[in-house]
Amino acid sequence: MGGSVKGIALLGSTGSIGTQTLDIVRSFPDDFRVVGLAAHRSFDLFSSQAKEFRPRLVSCDNNGVGVASLKEFGCQESSLEAMVLDDEVDLVITATVGGVALEPTIAALKAGKNVALANKESIVIAGEYLTRLAKEHGASFLPLDSEPNAIWQCLRGENRAIERLIITASGGAMRHVSAEELANVTPEQALKHPTWKMGPKITIDSATLMNKAFEVIESHWLFDVPWNQIDVLIHPQSIIHSMVEFEDGSVKAQMSPPDMRMPIQYALFYPNRMKNGKLPRFDPIKTGALTFEKMEPERYPCFVLAMEYGRRPGTWPAALCGADEAAVDAFLAGKLRFVDIAPTLEKVMQSHEAIDAPTPEQSLEAANWGSQRVVSLLEDV
Ligand SMILES: NC(=O)c1ccc[n+]([C@@H]2O[C@H](COP(=O)([O-])OP(=O)(O)OC[C@H]3O[C@@H](n4cnc5c(N)ncnc54)[C@H](OP(=O)(O)O)[C@@H]3O)[C@@H](O)[C@H]2O)c1
Repeated sequence: MGGSVKGIALLGSTGSIGTQTLDIVRSFPDDFRVVGLAAHRSFDLFSSQAKEFRPRLVSCDNNGVGVASLKEFGCQESSLEAMVLDDEVDLVITATVGGVALEPTIAALKAGKNVALANKESIVIAGEYLTRLAKEHGASFLPLDSEPNAIWQCLRGENRAIERLIITASGGAMRHVSAEELANVTPEQALKHPTWKMGPKITIDSATLMNKAFEVIESHWLFDVPWNQIDVLIHPQSIIHSMVEFEDGSVKAQMSPPDMRMPIQYALFYPNRMKNGKLPRFDPIKTGALTFEKMEPERYPCFVLAMEYGRRPGTWPAALCGADEAAVDAFLAGKLRFVDIAPTLEKVMQSHEAIDAPTPEQSLEAANWGSQRVVSLLEDV
């Protein structure tokens, strides 16, 4: 059904997306061979994954100790780039957080390999470059993130004629919190997402709606749709993952319970659809009303800021992305208040000296610069 066995390299195997990807692989043992696994610090989990899936190539920093102890499972240490370029790897899955996956993504695309993209930061950092590279080398991005994945599904079989993309947002954990209460929001409160279970960085980005801005940027690049034809709408139930309105006024929506394994499986098996009894089913009666609200930009200053800087060409989006990563880290570490994330990012962006048409190295440097600027601003306080 799924065709021949697909060799995969999974970057970020121990995270929220990584573990859910392996859950899909576990459900279809005859369809995938795990050739490479990469993670960073969660060595116990990584080690149990290596034992179960027996990847030939592995990478895990493991607090500087590395992966020598995994030799007994037939694993050998590899760089991320060598892993994605391995002959047995047909599909690369980027499920790391931040900019780590950018260089291996470039290597994979240059080798004409498809990339199942969860890691939206890499496309924010270098969207123009990556999409051009994919075209030049006949490679494709398979969007794994639920909103771009929904748009991808809606566009399937269509001859474009797109009027607008409508990206839905749950509104995040802070949707009902008053402006006064926002000043004292703790990381624990902000980490409680109403509908999705995700890693810490994206959960905070969802609370500020920075994540939604990143999805607008991601969708602009992946689907080649002008900025003014991409709208964001609050949809608290997270059942409709996004919609496409076509020129004739017809609107297609992709719906399913909020479970990332759904878009992950779609991307892994594309263009086939597979039955998987482990995935929840949509029950319209139990779900009840699906509601929509206007997104109030004044409640989400990070979204407004990201739309200002993230749409600019050159290194602006990269600097924003790096700064956001450091600001979220600082918030999670109790060093920055929730309400100070946006003003801190604004300060950083105002001092950015952008480079036009950057190389990927310059984009990564801009992201690092953004992170460093946040750190030094916080040290100066
Ligand atoms: N979670 C979701 O539902 C969701 C939905 C859509 C898109 N995304 C996107 O998917 C990406 C991953 O999100 P997540 O929520 O899964 O994050 P997460 O739970 O924090 O997991 C991040 C993963 O990246 C690994 N990693 C970090 N630094 C690394 C390095 N230097 N080398 C190799 N691996 C490294 C981590 O390894 P260790 O744990 O071993 O340190 C972990 O496996 C993000 O870009 C996010 O925006 C996530």
